[in-house]
Amino acid sequence: MSAAATFYVTTPIYYVNDKPHIGHAYTTLACDVLARFKRLDGFDVRFLTGTDEHGQKVEKSAEAAGMTPLALADLNSANFRDLAGVLGCSNDDFIRTTEPRHLAACQALWTRLVEKGDIYLGAYEGWYSVRDEAFYAEDELIKGPGDSRLAPTGAPVDWVKEPSYFFRLSAWQDRLLKWYEDNPDCVAPASRRNEVMSFVKGGLQDLSVSRTSFKWGIPVPGDGAHIMYVWLDALTNYITALGYPDTSGDFARYWPNALHMVGKDIVRFHAVYWPAFLMAADLAPPRRVFAHGWWTNEGQKISKSVGNVIDPLTLIETYGLDQVRYFLLREVPFGNDGDFSHRAMIQRINSELANDLGNLVQRTLSMIAKNCDGRVPPHVDYAEMTEDDWTLLDNSRDLINSVRPAIDRQAFHDALEAIWIIIRSANVYIDRQAPWKLRKTDQIRMETVLYVLAESIRNLALLLSPFMPTSADKILDQLGVSADRRDFASLGAGQSLTSGVELPAPQGVFPRFVEEAAG
Ligand code: ME8
Ligand code: MG
Repeated sequence: MSAAATFYVTTPIYYVNDKPHIGHAYTTLACDVLARFKRLDGFDVRFLTGTDEHGQKVEKSAEAAGMTPLALADLNSANFRDLAGVLGCSNDDFIRTTEPRHLAACQALWTRLVEKGDIYLGAYEGWYSVRDEAFYAEDELIKGPGDSRLAPTGAPVDWVKEPSYFFRLSAWQDRLLKWYEDNPDCVAPASRRNEVMSFVKGGLQDLSVSRTSFKWGIPVPGDGAHIMYVWLDALTNYITALGYPDTSGDFARYWPNALHMVGKDIVRFHAVYWPAFLMAADLAPPRRVFAHGWWTNEGQKISKSVGNVIDPLTLIETYGLDQVRYFLLREVPFGNDGDFSHRAMIQRINSELANDLGNLVQRTLSMIAKNCDGRVPPHVDYAEMTEDDWTLLDNSRDLINSVRPAIDRQAFHDALEAIWIIIRSANVYIDRQAPWKLRKTDQIRMETVLYVLAESIRNLALLLSPFMPTSADKILDQLGVSADRRDFASLGAGQSLTSGVELPAPQGVFPRFVEEAAG
């Protein structure tokens, strides 16, 4: 048997200057859905997340908090690690850039770039934003209050003048453009690819990749006065976790199928600098970089100073984990910006989870419990199944064929809509067939209808499990589906529910969200 195809998915590594918020949870959840989906679909998956712990921003925050940078990093890295747990994330690894394995990988990559002639010593004089940890050219700045100038992101900038090593980014312009052209899917969505390509076409300057004015970072090999630019350090995490500088083993296995999921704020680092570093080191660029959109809160930019940061833990306590997972990936076409509102959250929970899906499952399972002796309907008349029966059954069994391509485009909203089309059609079917009436007139027909529903729900629950793992498992438990039959190989007719199998007592899966009376 040939080895399974591999899939490597990564989140950005988050800065430890601050606590996790909904934006971090969003990216991590999207990656978790991909990782779970691919595992269920037979892939050999590696899913990485972690924390970005070096640099001036973390150093400054630690100073302000009266802590050492490492103490702050320990504290907040643990917060991100805990969040991954609370989100139900199935990450295989959690990397911290203060780990020895990462120091080794960064120094090896640096040495390689020096050997290749792509790093040289010079002096940097120009603008730097600590908040963005980014260098900006004069013509990128925007006007701030008074005569001040700001980064295009609105972050403050400082004039920096210090000795610095440079990466010969300018030499990579044509090879980067060729990479985008030869690989139309390497940066997504298309709007971001266009943005990146026009940035590169506009001309690339060599990139400052070391700093001398502070200490919190990875020392440049052979020149202890310099520490590495935090983005060179941070980006390297993706290969550290695969064992780099050893390029056999995990690196050989997973790197060719790497997907970096990021927010649109950091697309330039991932789609320009990172592939250039890699190509310069004779390593392949990532297979794909997907940059998703930005969440606002009830119409407002989320920021600490506004005080409207959404704590994912509070959200999960209020609405439930699977509800939050569902909402975030359903509410906004993935790639677009989105607005969080409690009203929208409650609307989705009550109409789509409680009404559409919850009622479908509840009605079906409670009728089976009462009228089929608590067993998968034992008296199914396959020979007399109608077109209506077959349509629902076939549509649910074939649903993977529309969900899989949507997931491969990271179009989570399309995947969920495809699933909901079948859920809604199952609700139409149950109303039309009215098994509660058949109960009095035709027991076998009633059992056939309930079987069609139960088997459709089995297929739906399997496909929903990457999105809502706990709820999907509850549904599959109630259908008596064993743990080893919950992958996508079990979709379709081959692993259909077996008539007569005894089922546990049904229980509700998606409660309605009832708002407390104002007062
Ligand atoms: O940039 N909406 O870390 P970071 C959507 N350490 N996503 C959001 C968001 C929002 N309002 N706010 C944050 C860094 N995010 C670097 C990354 S990678 C080698 C180094 C998410 O803590 C989104 O994924 O500032 C964004 O790209 C990321 O958090 C930035 O996290
Ligand atoms: Mg940030």
